[in-house]
Amino acid sequence: MTTRLIANIGELTTNDPTLGDATPMGRLRDAALVVDEARVLWVGPSAQAPACDEMTDADGAAVVPGFVDSHTHLVFAGERSDEFEARMAGSPYDGGGIARTVEATRAATRFELRTQTAKRARELLAGGVTTMEIKSGYELTLSGEERLLEIAGEFTDEVTFLGAHVVPHEFAHDRRAYVALVIDQMLERCAPHARWADVFCERGAFSVDEARQILLEARNMGLGLRVHGNQLADSGGVALALELDAASVDHCTHVNDLDLEALGASSTVATLLPGAEFCTRSAYPSGRRMLDAGVTVALATDCNPGTSYVTSMPFVIALAVREMSMTVDEALWAATRGGARALRRDDVGHLGLGARSDVVVLDAPRAAHLAYRPGGGVVRQTLRASR
Ligand code: NIG
Ligand code: FE
Repeated sequence: MTTRLIANIGELTTNDPTLGDATPMGRLRDAALVVDEARVLWVGPSAQAPACDEMTDADGAAVVPGFVDSHTHLVFAGERSDEFEARMAGSPYDGGGIARTVEATRAATRFELRTQTAKRARELLAGGVTTMEIKSGYELTLSGEERLLEIAGEFTDEVTFLGAHVVPHEFAHDRRAYVALVIDQMLERCAPHARWADVFCERGAFSVDEARQILLEARNMGLGLRVHGNQLADSGGVALALELDAASVDHCTHVNDLDLEALGASSTVATLLPGAEFCTRSAYPSGRRMLDAGVTVALATDCNPGTSYVTSMPFVIALAVREMSMTVDEALWAATRGGARALRRDDVGHLGLGARSDVVVLDAPRAAHLAYRPGGGVVRQTLRASR
């Protein structure tokens, strides 16, 4: 293993409260970091840094943990910019466009899908994402969902089966048959390629009862659980996620006070996806209200061709600060440690001793520039531990 000293860090955010200023951000000034290809080995004042095989000079810049994007739909073909334009002219979003991406994805070759996914993954990485979750959900057939999971697995270990994204058109007149296909055959075929199962629990997608049946079987197959819930309405997705102790419930745009209180007392993370509100011109969820209720919040891109064609975590952080009343530090924590919690991981999302050596060097003296300079090139360099 080669050791690397990252020296002259003006502001180091570790997210380890035992380090630095003893806040949840674990912040140090004039600091240095020692990593190897796998782990963080040393954190401390620049003046006391040990000698290493190699050196990166941060030149006074801020350094933060690699972002953990815990919600993406990265494997898809085609694009739906016409829907986006229509929404900007006043049309509402109802999930109906998913069928168009299903058609385009089914028609794409494995090579095309892999190439497109690689391009999006590179964009995420350039913006500082070092851990990404990737869902299936745009083929909705036995072999197709398996194919998407295999492709996702080439890019990450955090692979999610989303065969219950919507009911595909060939089952439009027999949705029970599609739910049965997912439960009786698709899960068995797909579970070996996935760590998680997710269901889009919403009017126009799957009901709470259907989602419960699918998720219970997924759990039997050894998968961890996640839920797309309460995006378009107070749909019962949050309550279901809590009932099943899902790792996260994602979107949470419409959450009633009872669910909010229960979420705050649970270990289920609320993953907020403001790129979706931005791209659908919808009201944002209140991050402030969630945090004040004691909810653990994650931020993610939700990168998908319909509601959030976003590959920039700094942009998501900027939206959370500007539109969801989160402080910069709360948003940064949610995009790193919060994402890790949503994936039930303790080895990423922070730079404490022994964490994976996923490090982002900013082109800025303070992490606040992530929100202060939206749309800009705030990420100078992303260092990712070898997989
Ligand atoms: O997270 N909500 C369901 N799935 C995606 C949208 C998918 C699409 O419109 O293609 C989401 O927003
Ligand atoms: Fe999504």
